[in-house]
Amino acid sequence: MLRIRQQDVRELEAMYRAFVMPELEPRAGRDEDLHRLIGTSVGEGLYVCRAIQSVRHVAGDVCEFGVAQGATSRLIANEIRPSSRTLWLYDSFEGLPKPSAKDVLIDDIFGLGSMDAYAGTMKSPRDLVVAKLEDIAFPMDRVRIREGWIDKTLAASPFPTAVAFAYVDFDFYEPIKVALEWLDGHMAPGAAIIVDDYGFFSQGAQSAVDEFLATRRDRWTFELPVEPAGKFCLLRAK
Ligand SMILES: C[S@@+](CC[C@H](N)C(=O)[O-])C[C@H]1O[C@@H](n2cnc3c(N)ncnc32)[C@H](O)[C@@H]1O
Repeated sequence: MLRIRQQDVRELEAMYRAFVMPELEPRAGRDEDLHRLIGTSVGEGLYVCRAIQSVRHVAGDVCEFGVAQGATSRLIANEIRPSSRTLWLYDSFEGLPKPSAKDVLIDDIFGLGSMDAYAGTMKSPRDLVVAKLEDIAFPMDRVRIREGWIDKTLAASPFPTAVAFAYVDFDFYEPIKVALEWLDGHMAPGAAIIVDDYGFFSQGAQSAVDEFLATRRDRWTFELPVEPAGKFCLLRAK
């Protein structure tokens, strides 16, 4: 894979701040975090940063659902460092589960030929995310790593009493549905969710979001990013 240079990341951020999100405040070191993202575009990373800044007035913690090796966790951690928010990280650390019937393959990203073949892929050990957070000296007493399948980890405490921002990156229908339904009961007006892979890889991500919104239009707004930023969506509690 061709990696862009860190100076190109700085240039991209400057373009986004000039033409897409002028309200995004700069942060020293963000370019390095964006440069280290894996499988997440610089544009999507910037939308994550903007969403985190936009919930400053909203009480609650920050969650990432689907962490893998923790490249986005590192970015999120640095963005929330000046606050006192806790970072909740949810992952099986066993990779993707078995897909459901709603997980129709729309982009064969690894060239595996079928959706079923993706079960168990994207597996990363928990140590990698811990190492990334230690590397940036993020206070580990502000981190909760909830290891296991999401239907189990959200069913039992500990979990955050309130969430101000969540990044949902589970790829498949069932876990995204579980996370969104749980978040619906834990987010106050103004709180924001970014759901990755809306209309990309598995149709299940978009189906989970569309079904979630279908019965909650009174409570959530829906926004898509500018096209070059990639395939994800932003939900905000009304
Ligand atoms: C695309 S990766 C996450 C990438 C990460 N957010 C990043 O930007 O670097 C998806 C992750 O979701 C996790 N995952 C998928 N389904 C899950 C489930 N039902 N419960 C817990 N973790 C799950 C996988 O183990 C995998 O690490």
